[in-house]
Amino acid sequence: MALYLITGGCGFIGSHLASALLARGDRVRVLDDLSTGLRDNLLPGCDLLEGDVADPALVRRAMEGVDGCFHLAAIASVELGLRDWLGTHRVNLGGTITVLDAARAGRVPVAYASSAAVYGEQARMPITEAAVPRPLSSYGADKLGSEQHARVAGAVHGVPSCGLRFFNVFGPRQDPRSPYSGVISIFCGRMAAGEPVTIHGDGRQTRDFVPVAQVVAALLGGMRAASVAAPVFNVCTGRPTSVLDLAQAVAAACGVAPDIRHGPPRAGEIRESFGDPALSERELGLGAAQPLAEGLREVVAWLRAGSPAAGVSR
Ligand SMILES: NC(=O)c1ccc[n+]([C@@H]2O[C@H](COP(=O)([O-])OP(=O)(O)OC[C@H]3O[C@@H](n4cnc5c(N)ncnc54)[C@H](O)[C@@H]3O)[C@@H](O)[C@H]2O)c1
Repeated sequence: MALYLITGGCGFIGSHLASALLARGDRVRVLDDLSTGLRDNLLPGCDLLEGDVADPALVRRAMEGVDGCFHLAAIASVELGLRDWLGTHRVNLGGTITVLDAARAGRVPVAYASSAAVYGEQARMPITEAAVPRPLSSYGADKLGSEQHARVAGAVHGVPSCGLRFFNVFGPRQDPRSPYSGVISIFCGRMAAGEPVTIHGDGRQTRDFVPVAQVVAALLGGMRAASVAAPVFNVCTGRPTSVLDLAQAVAAACGVAPDIRHGPPRAGEIRESFGDPALSERELGLGAAQPLAEGLREVVAWLRAGSPAAGVSR
């Protein structure tokens, strides 16, 4: 039985990862400041250290005796990065360096959340890991910085790591009331409540929506693949979905006729983004991701079963 630290373990993805680790018999310690995560997301049997991932003394304490660290704590919002550049940088890059630094003493392997935001606008689809990263947000720049520091941690300090570039993750426990939530949880929340949805622009922009179960499988594979070479992998489906098609699919999952309004396009919004999953399928042993419609039905069922903010149904 191994002991794993999950930073950000009270959040959407972290809580699903904790369930998977506990289910296979591992022990879980969580470090979270509960800024967007919920105490109620913490499963029985997990220990919680409440505090800041950029606090070196706390992170050193959290790292004691662990077999590996999953680093997910971040301010996962491009919009907040625009408003509070320095504050988000302190957590999103400073937090990663704090984790890597604490992992040095025991050469603890670290599997961490990067993001498709490192790519920015790319001409070639699907996006492979070989694409030259050109982040268009401070959030994406900090994720790219995290990858660079992980490389240094491996080459200079012998810390094994693996970075996972998540595309648009969705699933139960993603809070549809948060303005920073993904488009799927917002659409599901509104349509399940019989409310209209707003699409920015013509809705033909595409995204790669990846179910949270695939992300958990990638994190577990990433922990096995962690090495001082600090590899990074896409976590995606390879299937582009336009926002218009998504709205139709969510309406079908909710069993309603979609009420779609169009708002002005968002300045600087990326038109097309979907990834190539070949490398992660090969190196992390991932199977094909669950079909979108099936994942959407799970989100709608979860929404209808209880209050999302209370994280009651799992
Ligand atoms: N959800 C997505 O589509 C997506 C896509 C790409 C990358 N990611 C990355 O995956 C990770 C998890 O994202 P999520 O969707 O579960 O978001 P989330 O907001 O649900 O989880 C983040 C967790 O980190 C905690 N946290 C934030 N700041 C902290 C701090 N200073 N100290 C300690 N804990 C702190 C929050 O309380 C929360 O529990 C993040 O690193 C995010 O950037 C997510």
